[in-house]
Amino acid sequence: MRFSFGDREIEVEPGQSIGAALIAAGYRSWRTTRGEGAPRGVFCGIGVCFDCLVVVNGRPNQRACLTDARPGDRIEPQEGAGRAGLAC
Ligand code: FES
Repeated sequence: MRFSFGDREIEVEPGQSIGAALIAAGYRSWRTTRGEGAPRGVFCGIGVCFDCLVVVNGRPNQRACLTDARPGDRIEPQEGAGRAGLAC
């Protein structure tokens, strides 16, 4: 199974979250904060901190740590409040 992340294809195991798949692929951050543009990735891993937000199939503000990765999904980094299009 694979999903796309920017221009890269990411391998994913059945039942794996998007966040876990991104970490397994070597990513540590994929979002920037609204004010300072600071990098963020998985912090709490349980859906509380919202640091891990990604854009899933055009829908911003999806928590990567809680969202199951599905084959064919198009995942993009999230900039600030939810624009897609950051470099990976
Ligand atoms: S890592 Fe905290 S909500 Fe996802």
